Amino acid sequence: MTDAVTVLERCAALGEVSEEGGLLLRRYGTDAMRRANELVGGWMQAAGLDVHEDAVGNLVGVRGDPVVTLGSHLDTVRDAGRYDGPLGVLVAIAAAERTGVPLEVIGFADEEGVRFGTAYLGSAAVAGQFDPEWPALRDAGGVALADLLRGDPQTAARPVRAYAEVHIEQGPVLERLGEPVAVVTAINGQSHADVVFTGEAGHAGTVPHDARHDALAAAAEWVLAVEGTGTVGRLRVEPGGRNVIPGRAIMSLDVRDADDERRRAALTRLHAAAEEVAARRGVELDWTDVGDLPAVAMDARLSELWGVATRLPSGAGHDAAMIATVAPASMLFVRCRGGVSHNPAESVEEADVAVAIDALERFIRAV
Ligand code: HGY
Ligand code: MN
Ligand code: MN
Repeated sequence: MTDAVTVLERCAALGEVSEEGGLLLRRYGTDAMRRANELVGGWMQAAGLDVHEDAVGNLVGVRGDPVVTLGSHLDTVRDAGRYDGPLGVLVAIAAAERTGVPLEVIGFADEEGVRFGTAYLGSAAVAGQFDPEWPALRDAGGVALADLLRGDPQTAARPVRAYAEVHIEQGPVLERLGEPVAVVTAINGQSHADVVFTGEAGHAGTVPHDARHDALAAAAEWVLAVEGTGTVGRLRVEPGGRNVIPGRAIMSLDVRDADDERRRAALTRLHAAAEEVAARRGVELDWTDVGDLPAVAMDARLSELWGVATRLPSGAGHDAAMIATVAPASMLFVRCRGGVSHNPAESVEEADVAVAIDALERFIRAV
């Protein structure tokens, strides 16, 4: 059996480890993540790595005094595909097994931040940048992040000499170029905000339309202003009755750009647009900035070690962006069918995975 087939079979097995039947969801600190670490930890051990979990739940497989750190994340978004994150960890184990180079492979415990809104929690801990405000965060069920920690998060910080991450492209460019892989040049920055319009709930049958303060109508107008600049991925309407004029519209905002100044200017524009809609419609606006992740260039020297000519920027965020704040970092993208990701239809070709394992082996031997 080839290494690529083994990686694909392991992605399939790991893809069955979920919080819910019928869809793939693995959020930080859940039993599903514990089971995923158990499964992947066994594969790391079989590859000759010494395995442990750190204080925040990252899975770490080490051989000797690491000259390079490989990895990606093991958590997922809701209704995820089986490759976003796990492919990078499993390709790293396969490539590590081919060499005797002292290295470590990390399966990060939380990149997506689905449960607590904590993007890059696992890699932040390794980079010594665990946010002291994170332990006090509570999930929708009231569970405190602090209760999920396995010890002092500061103890998860580890020296990293060089970092390499293999990840699906999550976009259609490699397919259009007819290329199996590409080296990532830079990772876009991200702005995140929570946006709430509060109007006046009322009877859908009796309140004249010109007397309404409909929170959802205000949100809908603003979402159209966001289109083309950012993404409103989540919208909740309260109280949510068929015959009740929406009193509140609660939304998430995500804005990305390779240029930090342009991204922050776009965020300011969208905030002003929300204030204008709220004033004109007689509704209140609550705007909370909850994330600002700068764009990060990948390391030029490390980029040459893959032996891959194609270059591509990343619109998606990755743990490499966090690790790059403390060590030289590099990424390799793998073509995925239709560029589909954050979707169970996510799919990669065995031949492309084989190319990625060979490229990572070249990287490890040269670093
Ligand atoms: O949001 C992102 O870009 C990544 O999937 N966490
Ligand atoms: Mn990812
Ligand atoms: Mn993702």
